[in-house]
Amino acid sequence: MIEVKKIKPTETYNVRLEVLRKNIPLPYEFKGDFDENTFHIGAFKNNKLIAVSSYMKAENENFKGTQYQLRGMATLEKFQGFGAGKLMMQKAFEILNELNIDCLWCNARVIAVNFYEKQGLQTFGEKFDIKFVGDHYVMFKYLK
Ligand SMILES: CC(C)(COP(=O)(O)OP(=O)(O)OC[C@H]1O[C@@H](n2cnc3c(N)ncnc32)[C@H](O)[C@@H]1OP(=O)(O)O)[C@@H](O)C(=O)NCCC(=O)NCCS
Repeated sequence: MIEVKKIKPTETYNVRLEVLRKNIPLPYEFKGDFDENTFHIGAFKNNKLIAVSSYMKAENENFKGTQYQLRGMATLEKFQGFGAGKLMMQKAFEILNELNIDCLWCNARVIAVNFYEKQGLQTFGEKFDIKFVGDHYVMFKYLK
């Protein structure tokens, strides 16, 4: 069984490093990790942290209302496909609803677009490159 709950910012670092920063010379610490509005969610299997994601208050001019940005969504490779990502996003939607947030958006790696679509997000605009990481789409979901 997978359990999802809020975790501390520093708890996200190992999974971010392993999944999102292998051979990528970009920081695994994000500006905003410790902001008071930021929250981080972890997924645990047998008490082992297997997936992480972070949610930060950030406005994107393309969207309306109060907004959060999803960052650092990552599941350890051998635990991918078992529902951890989906459960983390369900928990995030609950928390964002309690916070009365209108829109969740992210910069999605092309390989993760189908995953985000399954969680109800849509792509916005054209594909764009993030140096060292590759092609991305902005994706979003209105929560109300
Ligand atoms: C993308 C990622 C976070 C998904 O997490 P996960 O724990 O494997 O996802 P889940 O097991 O909860 O999958 C939920 C659904 O999405 C599907 N899915 C997961 N990853 C997918 C992918 N890359 N492409 C297509 N579908 C995918 C699953 O099959 C599942 O479908 P179902 O609900 O019909 O059964 C994970 O694969 C990952 O860490 N990838 C590498 C890092 C990355 O690209 N992160 C995103 C950066 S923007």
